[in-house]
Amino acid sequence: MPEYTLKIRRFDPESGEAAYWDEHTVDLDGTQSVLDAILKVRDDVDGSIGIRCSCQQAICGSCGVRMNGKPGLACNTHLEEAADRRAGIGWNPPDEGQSNTTITVEPMGNMPVIRDLIVDMDAVHWKKIRRVTPWLINKAPVPEREYIVPHENMVDVTQTVACIQCGACVSDCLSMEIDPLFVGPAALAKSYRFVGDPRDAEHFQRLKDLSEDPHGIYDCTHCFNCIDACPKGVDPMSQIMRLRRKAGGDHQIEDRNNGHRHEQAFVKNIRKHGLLHEADLLPDSYGGKFHPNAVPELFSSLPTAAAALARRKMTPKTVLMHPHKAPKEVKRLFDQVEGREERVELNLYVTGYEDDPSDSGSGTKDTSTAATKDQGTPDAEGMAAEPANTGAMPDSAADAVQSGESETS
Ligand code: SF4
Ligand code: SF4
Ligand code: FES
Repeated sequence: MPEYTLKIRRFDPESGEAAYWDEHTVDLDGTQSVLDAILKVRDDVDGSIGIRCSCQQAICGSCGVRMNGKPGLACNTHLEEAADRRAGIGWNPPDEGQSNTTITVEPMGNMPVIRDLIVDMDAVHWKKIRRVTPWLINKAPVPEREYIVPHENMVDVTQTVACIQCGACVSDCLSMEIDPLFVGPAALAKSYRFVGDPRDAEHFQRLKDLSEDPHGIYDCTHCFNCIDACPKGVDPMSQIMRLRRKAGGDHQIEDRNNGHRHEQAFVKNIRKHGLLHEADLLPDSYGGKFHPNAVPELFSSLPTAAAALARRKMTPKTVLMHPHKAPKEVKRLFDQVEGREERVELNLYVTGYEDDPSDSGSGTKDTSTAATKDQGTPDAEGMAAEPANTGAMPDSAADAVQSGESETS
């Protein structure tokens, strides 16, 4: 049986002492979890190690930690998998002197440490979840029986319903590191859960609120960390992009942070040049070169432009004339996408087979790529598709129970 070395970060803020690494070796099979190893050390050697856990089945979301630098659920991460992260596999080469059976275990980031591996979820994660009104606001009149929700809408929100509130995405959010007030990936994914639900009465107000908040949907920098971190495939960044498309595209919300205009300026830039032309991007984001709002921004950017010119990163010719023109292929792609009557959202979360009612035979159809279109009002009786993604349905059920929602269709 292999021997793993656990390096656990120990810290008690009340002691007044600095954090330190506590090293223990465990004889466990590589397919046992990091949580198994921590609990073994706690049972056999040192009962004072602080770790929060409950279900040990990747359901309750309480055992989030960083293992060899990556956040995740300790109960859902094999020792061999965590060790491989430092064995020169993938992105992380081993630290000097560190073997490929050494696993560092640290508390999650972006949240204050209460003790050892336990972080204060209330101070950050739950506070942000409460910020987005995490419950359904019923449309009136409330039907005598259940609301009928179209199949496509249930497919669409199932991905966010799968969240188990573990905080792994919050732990590694780069925007939150710079701006602790950023609403953050978990809370924004939670918000999409209601914005994508046709039973909710306040889509516009939710979107307007999160667009106008300087720490809202336009504060995300697309770093993909939350997608990598999430153990449940919720893809918080994708949910944030959906919120943006609904806010700017469907509801034409022009936020005072200029987030939507900035996105449009990017699109215009690429359509025209095929490459990003920064000199156009800034004024376009403020309504054009001669727009009163653009003038102060252009002046404030002069020192940056002067430094770039001095370092020959750009020349007056590239600033003023930008010789690059978008190739025909780029224009063709834009025409094709913009020529669609309806926006099609690809939802890759729900996979598998289901009965095809139009098929009179016994065949089944592959729904491995589920495309969903925005549905205005419920018009057809539907039912929630069963995700093949392991662990998704129990979590969906847990979420529904926690929030007192009914997922009836
Ligand atoms: S993609 Fe956005 S929300 Fe997700 S971790 Fe990066 S900055 Fe945060
Ligand atoms: S979105 Fe994923 S990583 Fe974030 S809290 Fe939910 S389950 Fe955890
Ligand atoms: S102990 Fe419940 S998710 Fe790990």
